[in-house]
Amino acid sequence: MKGLILSGGTGTRLRPITYTSAKQLVPVANKPILFYAIETIQDAGITDIGIVIGDTGEEVKAAVGDGDRWGVKVTYIEQESPLGLAHAVKIAHDFIEDDDFVMYLGDNLVKEGINGLVKEFKQTNCNCQILLSHVKDPQRFGVAELSNGKVIGLVEKPKEPKSDLALVGVYMFDKSIFEAVNAIKPSRRNELEITDAIQYLIDKRYVVHPHIIDGWWKDTGKLEDLLEANRIMLELIDERIDGNVDDKTQVLGKVIVEKGAVIKESIIRGPAIIGYNSEIVNSYVGPFTSIHDNVKIKESEVEHSIILADCLINDIGSRIEDTLLGRNVKVHKSDTKPKAYRLMVGDNSEIEVI
Ligand code: DAU
Repeated sequence: MKGLILSGGTGTRLRPITYTSAKQLVPVANKPILFYAIETIQDAGITDIGIVIGDTGEEVKAAVGDGDRWGVKVTYIEQESPLGLAHAVKIAHDFIEDDDFVMYLGDNLVKEGINGLVKEFKQTNCNCQILLSHVKDPQRFGVAELSNGKVIGLVEKPKEPKSDLALVGVYMFDKSIFEAVNAIKPSRRNELEITDAIQYLIDKRYVVHPHIIDGWWKDTGKLEDLLEANRIMLELIDERIDGNVDDKTQVLGKVIVEKGAVIKESIIRGPAIIGYNSEIVNSYVGPFTSIHDNVKIKESEVEHSIILADCLINDIGSRIEDTLLGRNVKVHKSDTKPKAYRLMVGDNSEIEVI
C-alpha cells in the first residue's frame, strides 16, 4: 500500500500567512501540520509516500526532504495548478501504479492516527473507504448521505446538507479510483472533485465503505481551527526543559523549552512550547501557546496563540490572545510622538485593538 499526501492548493483562508508560506507547513505545537500526516502514514506501516506539490513546492521539498528522517521514501508529484483533489489523484497514477493507497489531505489532522482504519480497509475488501465525522457546519465540507449504513450520495460543500456527516480528509482507494477520476468532469468551481469521483464509484456499484470516526479530527484551513489543533497537540507533549530557565521563573504544567532558549523572570504556564533560541524576559506565556524559534518576548503576556519564528513582542500593554503571528513580525510599544498606532501589515491581515 502507498501513501499520497496532498500539499498543493492555495490556502486562501489563512492569508496573509499563506502569501509567503505553504499552509501545510504552518506549525502546530512547533511542528508543521504536514509532518503529522507523514508520521501518521508511517505509523500505519506505509513507507512509500507521494506528495503532491504546487506553487509552494520548493518550500515543501526543503522542509520534508527525501523522507529519510521518518524512514520513508518520498516522491514529489508536481501539479501545475490546484485543479482539484481528483486531479491530484489523476496525476499521481504513475506513482501509485495499481496499488491500493491512502490519500491524506496535507492540512488535516487525525488525532487517533489511521492504523485501525487501514486494517479495516484491507479486511472489508472494499474499493474505497471514506472517513466521516459529525460536524456542526457541514456546508464547509464534502457531505455524505447514508442509508442503512451505506453511502448513497456525496455532495461537495452543499448549501443544504442532507446530513451532518463531513468527509474527513483521509481516503483509502484501490485502482478503481483511476477509472473514476478519468470519467468525471470539472465541477462548477472548475475542480475535479474527489466527492464526484467517489459518487461515480457508488453509481457504478463499486463498494464504498463508510467509517464514522468519533475521535478528534481537524481541517486546519482557518485560524480558529489552527488554534484548536495547537491546543489538542500541545496537550500531548511530554515536558522537557533543554533551554536555560532562571530561578526567578515559574514553569507550571507541561512545558517544552528547547535548546538555546533563555527564560528570565517569567511565568510559563503549560501546555506550552518555547522554540530553539527564543528569549522570554519578564513575561507571561499562558496555556496553549506555541512560540517558535528565535522569538523574543519581553515585558509582555501571550496566551492561546501561535507565534512563528523570529518574532518580537515587546512591552505590549495588554495580553495577546487567540493570535497567529507570521514569521519575523514585530509588535512593540513605541514612545514616538504623536501617540498613535503605527502599522505595516500585509494584505488580508486582521488586527483587533482595545
Ligand atoms: O478537510 C476535509 C475536506 O477537504 C473535505 O470534506 C472535502 O470534501 C474536500 O474537498 C476538502 O475540502 P477543502 O476545501 O478543505 O480542500 P482544500 O482545497 O483545502 O484542499 C485540501 C488539501 O489538498 C490541501 O492540503 C491543499 C491540497 N490540494 C488541493 C487542491 C484543490 C492539492 O494538493 N491540490 C489541489 O488541486
